[in-house]
Amino acid sequence: MYVCMCYGVTDKAITQAVEEAGVGNLRELRQHLNVGAQCGKCIQMAQQIIDSTIIDESLFKEVC
Ligand code: FES
Repeated sequence: MYVCMCYGVTDKAITQAVEEAGVGNLRELRQHLNVGAQCGKCIQMAQQIIDSTIIDESLFKEVC
């Protein structure tokens, strides 16, 4: 699903940036994918995806 229509960024691209590039906040995400740099409508959704991906990673580490 597209999160940022201005730059054509998907939820999968954001999840991948968090998991593989160590992105931990919106500022870092903007540096990688430009998310939120135009109209800003995608910021809230992008933040939620960053947060849920980090939570998923920490739960996975606890289990393993
Ligand atoms: Fe992301 Fe416009 S939808 S900057």
